[in-house]
Amino acid sequence: MIRMFHVRKTFGASVALRDINLHIRKGEFAFITGPSGAGKTTLLRLIFGADRPTSGHILIDGINLGRISKKRLDYLRRKVGFVFQDFKLLPNKTVFENVAIALEVMGEGPSYVRKKTHQTLRSLGLEKKETLFPLQLSGGEQQRVAIARAIVKNPMLLLADEPTGNLDPDLTKEIMLLFKTIHMKGTTVVIATHNKGLLDMTAQRKILLRRGEILGEA
Ligand SMILES: Nc1ncnc2c1ncn2[C@@H]1O[C@H](COP(=O)(O)OP(=O)(O)O)[C@@H](O)[C@H]1O
Ligand SMILES: [Mg+2]
Repeated sequence: MIRMFHVRKTFGASVALRDINLHIRKGEFAFITGPSGAGKTTLLRLIFGADRPTSGHILIDGINLGRISKKRLDYLRRKVGFVFQDFKLLPNKTVFENVAIALEVMGEGPSYVRKKTHQTLRSLGLEKKETLFPLQLSGGEQQRVAIARAIVKNPMLLLADEPTGNLDPDLTKEIMLLFKTIHMKGTTVVIATHNKGLLDMTAQRKILLRRGEILGEA
């Protein structure tokens, strides 16, 4: 699903990633771990195609991100969900609209959008919140809406950047269960986190990043 070959990413004089070689298979559930500044966010952004490596190659589902047109990249991104650390919900849109928009931009018809959005929100226990605005929700609820928006398009790959960074331990468990359910339905899941508690909770693959390098796996 994801292959990285000698990937390097620099921002001016600062080196965010150096010589990353990584293979994450279809159907895997993997964590990218490491302290703040290790390069986790940069790595996820490169996988998502939100940014380009300074050198090296990235293949997603066999497609070389460095060699595809903007149009193909847009198409590929439809199959990849991204859960942002700060949720990135639209404050002037309702919960329902925040999720529906992910399907609308893909050109899906209104009846499919309605049905699929309701169904996804229901599966995350948000059916009673559909008409509320993000700021009327708790942090955990906002995070679930962000997850709903990422999975409503049935992505083959789900990327999440510190998805429990702003949540208490109980909510963290709840959100982790959600990711496990999504994974069990067949989606490849990659989560970046520096949260030790979260990592102790799970037996999944852990890729250890430090100062832009993969130190090993646990
Ligand atoms: N847009 C950017 N401009 C300049 N430096 C950046 C940028 N994004 C990340 N960096 C630097 O790259 C390094 C890795 O950052 P990041 O990927 O955000 O790490 P993490 O998510 O593990 O905390 C840090 O030193 C950070 O300052
Ligand atoms: Mg980060």
